[in-house]
Amino acid sequence: DWVMRDHIAEAVEQIRQQVGDEEVILGLSGGVDSSVAAALIHRAIGDQLTCVFVDHGLLRLNEGDMVMDMFVGKLHAKVIRVDASDLFLGKLAGVSEPEQKRKIIGGLFVDVFKQEAAKLKGDGAKGETGGRTVKGATWLAQGTIYPDVIESGGAKSKKAVTIKSHHNVGGLPEQLGLKLLEPLRDLFKDEVRELGVALGLPPEMVYRHPFPGPGLGVRILGEVKKEYADLLRRADAIFIEELRNHVDEATGKTWYDLTSQAFTVFLPVKSVGVMGDGRTYDYVVALRAVQTSDFMTADWAELPYALLKKVSGRIINEVRGINRVTYDVSSKPPATIEWE
Ligand code: XMP
Repeated sequence: DWVMRDHIAEAVEQIRQQVGDEEVILGLSGGVDSSVAAALIHRAIGDQLTCVFVDHGLLRLNEGDMVMDMFVGKLHAKVIRVDASDLFLGKLAGVSEPEQKRKIIGGLFVDVFKQEAAKLKGDGAKGETGGRTVKGATWLAQGTIYPDVIESGGAKSKKAVTIKSHHNVGGLPEQLGLKLLEPLRDLFKDEVRELGVALGLPPEMVYRHPFPGPGLGVRILGEVKKEYADLLRRADAIFIEELRNHVDEATGKTWYDLTSQAFTVFLPVKSVGVMGDGRTYDYVVALRAVQTSDFMTADWAELPYALLKKVSGRIINEVRGINRVTYDVSSKPPATIEWE
């Protein structure tokens, strides 16, 4: 694709001009925008980029390792992985109100990132470690895309009620005293995805469904516990795997691609079941799959029964601790896509 190749060459040149020989820090979340920004900046300036990946312990199955394999293993980028799961789970103990959970997760995320960034930030003086010249970072890169730019303008402030507060990392560069680098600012989501593929990121990653910043923290209803997160991760991985496996004959597309967002929700209630000769008393999960063009309204997806049957059978058989699977048939509005 010539247009995309030209675009990459132009963007790379612009980043080199802007950054010169200075160092850049980027917060990698595993999401599409920060991943594409990282790949692009890495293409432009290589080792002058350091990515910080904060693992809050509320990621999906193997997600942290997949991010590291991709960025360190394949792209050879510098990534600092911060395992902060104990910190996050500790602060979330006893907290069940969704907005409070979001605030705790968002706040801790910023704290941990700031701490790591402060370590990488220099006073501009050059130093030597292990023979390599090290300069402190003076740039903070963010995967801000065009819709984010518009949203933080007038439109958002007119909204009277906040239904769900999202991560707000605005103001971070000022607080850290870093210059802001936003190479995706002019791009729409589709363009960001095309760019990601052209940069060599795997299409499965680039075309992944959106995942909320607070992660499984808002997909475990009420209090978040490690035990719940571990069960949910396994159940959700089965659901996603089967969505990717099932192809719709009419369109030739997988049900993963036919849905806009699909995931599993952990319900911290127990129900009675029977297994072999015994009685079980275990947790319940809900499967959620929606189709939407803008995420403002959404219809629940009419998944084939055969797919639902396969998923529920596998979850109940493979994930000891879950003995009941339900399917969410609520549209937005009045329900929201996430349960919290
Ligand atoms: P709702 O549940 O409000 O979700 O219908 C609409 C879209 O927003 C995502 N979402 C979030 N994203 N932080 C995020 O980054 C959040 O706290 C959050 N809450 C919801 C949700 O996954 C869906 O795509």
